[in-house]
Amino acid sequence: MIATIADTRFGYDDAGDGLPVVFLHGFPHDRTLWSAQRRALSPQVRTIVPDLRGFGDTTADGPYSLDQSADDVMALLDTLGVERVVVCGLSMGGYLAMALWRRYPRRIRGMILCSTKATADTPEARSARDDAMAEVASGGVEVFAERQLAKMVGRTTMAERPGVARALCTMMARQPAAGVIGTLGALRDRPDSRETLGSITVPTLIVAGDEDVITPLSDANAMLALLPAASAARLEIIPGAGHAVCMERPAAVTYALHEFLAPMLFERE
Ligand code: MLT
Repeated sequence: MIATIADTRFGYDDAGDGLPVVFLHGFPHDRTLWSAQRRALSPQVRTIVPDLRGFGDTTADGPYSLDQSADDVMALLDTLGVERVVVCGLSMGGYLAMALWRRYPRRIRGMILCSTKATADTPEARSARDDAMAEVASGGVEVFAERQLAKMVGRTTMAERPGVARALCTMMARQPAAGVIGTLGALRDRPDSRETLGSITVPTLIVAGDEDVITPLSDANAMLALLPAASAARLEIIPGAGHAVCMERPAAVTYALHEFLAPMLFERE
């Protein structure tokens, strides 16, 4: 589906009925990252899955910042008439979930933070973003996607499900260079979200693959330690999965999400 909001075209899927859950993809992905969860959960929840600014069918030019993307997501939810939502984000989508909590806490009913972390980029990571921007500008997205793939999936997926790794690489390679470059800058400049985590008062689930080398389990545990009791936070560790956990172990992730969402399906707003 396509929505035009303030002259920008947003690609998104909106399926199912009931509890609204917005799924936010990572970098450099598009909304197909969440296809398995959208298909499996839509009979019971309303799954809203946008392409974030600069990816997939969302063709927006800059400015690129996490706050801008958070505002984009809220504008889409407004257009769809959704008042309160559970936010489920993977990696960059998790950074964005935290930005949404900072900016729109009253609109959020629950948080699912997958393969993500609350800290900002280190000086070394910031400089690697600059190098990556130059690499994409000169060499294009395909080479960058191949390089990302090595870190993006776990060793089990690489060895036992190479087709999943290939599909992810194809998805990354088809993203527009302008979106990839602009978003690298947004990721480089994102704020530290540790204080934000400490203010979360809605139910929160952390999901992490035990083979993730981009956001290892230590990042998930650090987030868990910062979340206040009011969030009733817990961590679900998915065995045999790396960073792209929802594509690598789709059934295990869907099961964890369903278990987390189930009590909310019967709550009155
Ligand atoms: C992602 O998957 O979204 C990226 O690993 C995030 C990042 O590069 O910080």
